[in-house]
Amino acid sequence: MKSISYGRQNITNEDIDEVVKVLKSDFLTQGPKVKEFEENFAQYIGAKYAVAVTNGTDALHLCNLALNVKPGDKVISSPITFVASANSVLYCGGEVDFSDIDEKTYTLDLNKLEQKLKNSPKGTYSGIIPVDLAGYPVDVEKLRKIAEKYNLWITEDACHAPGAYFTDSKKQKQYCGNGAYSDLQIFSFHPVKHIATGEGGMVTTNNEKLYKKLKLLSSHGITKDTDILEENHGGWYYEMQELGYNYRLSDMNCALGISQLKRAGENVKKRNKIAEKYNEAFKDIEQIKIPFVADDVYHAYHLFIIRIKKRKELYNFLKESNIFTQVHYIPVHLQPYYKKFGWRKGDFPVAEAYYESALSLPMYPTLTDDEQNYVIDKISEFFK
Ligand SMILES: Cc1ncc(COP(=O)(O)O)c(C=O)c1O
Repeated sequence: MKSISYGRQNITNEDIDEVVKVLKSDFLTQGPKVKEFEENFAQYIGAKYAVAVTNGTDALHLCNLALNVKPGDKVISSPITFVASANSVLYCGGEVDFSDIDEKTYTLDLNKLEQKLKNSPKGTYSGIIPVDLAGYPVDVEKLRKIAEKYNLWITEDACHAPGAYFTDSKKQKQYCGNGAYSDLQIFSFHPVKHIATGEGGMVTTNNEKLYKKLKLLSSHGITKDTDILEENHGGWYYEMQELGYNYRLSDMNCALGISQLKRAGENVKKRNKIAEKYNEAFKDIEQIKIPFVADDVYHAYHLFIIRIKKRKELYNFLKESNIFTQVHYIPVHLQPYYKKFGWRKGDFPVAEAYYESALSLPMYPTLTDDEQNYVIDKISEFFK
């Protein structure tokens, strides 16, 4: 059996043709493919606006800039996420605080979060960056109620969750990133994600003012919009009105994204099928804890995370069989860089226990039946 990784991209001939068309066109960047990708993505997610950016990390940074995160501002995120969710706050001079995860969903425990806010002096925090870990949607309706009480903004890190939804109290399906309850939402198009553009990212929002600010900041803070120019010297004239960055995604990346997006919905279904097969195969292996999914939730399964006691042994056993699993994630507060801020083992017991036993199995839409059977057989063999 050839090697099987925990995730991988899928590039079709149509994807390649679309990129080649851009290479032969007049615009490699700042051309028509950017707007088309933004519009198609916003429509897929169900949000009003989308801003394409260079990657998910820059998307987070841009959100913090648009929300005016300043030195001294405190933002809460999950200890179980990719480091970028937290780092983006530090880029703006802000401070990151963490709150423990829920034992079942591995996303922020909203009861513990509320307790933390209750126990802190009013005005301690400015915002929250919840993470839809593995593709499990955070209940942002409940989170919004908490955020309103404490006057906090919400930037949902939905990198793992395009296509996932939860059902709100009005029985409406709320797709991750649609902006119904969060202020801003971000996505990544790194190759292992649902949509691959090489590097790439997107911010979605329903807030026009934030959208305009994101657009401005993503391109040096420069505008040619005659409605907001302070002066106008002629057709060439532009103004730099804010200190922005070059976080623009190129037309090549966007063309690939547009083409990938056409398969996104069907690929989430394939991921769910793969999850069903794992769940069925592991239901009698009591040493394996399979992912929890509430009845009113549709999981996007960016990752299929199991919990087992002998995690390292299983990881090594599978590696010897050419199956490359991964651990998502090492708690951010225990990274050496973050320990410098005073975080210690024991600060977030649920997150730390999760880390000791979590393992991400191969999960991607093109995983074949034979490959998945091989993975299942090897895992069953390990537990025999
Ligand atoms: C949860 C989460 N947030 C942020 C990022 C950062 O995205 P990118 O790698 O596109 O910068 C990632 C991707 O690795 C991620 O998984």
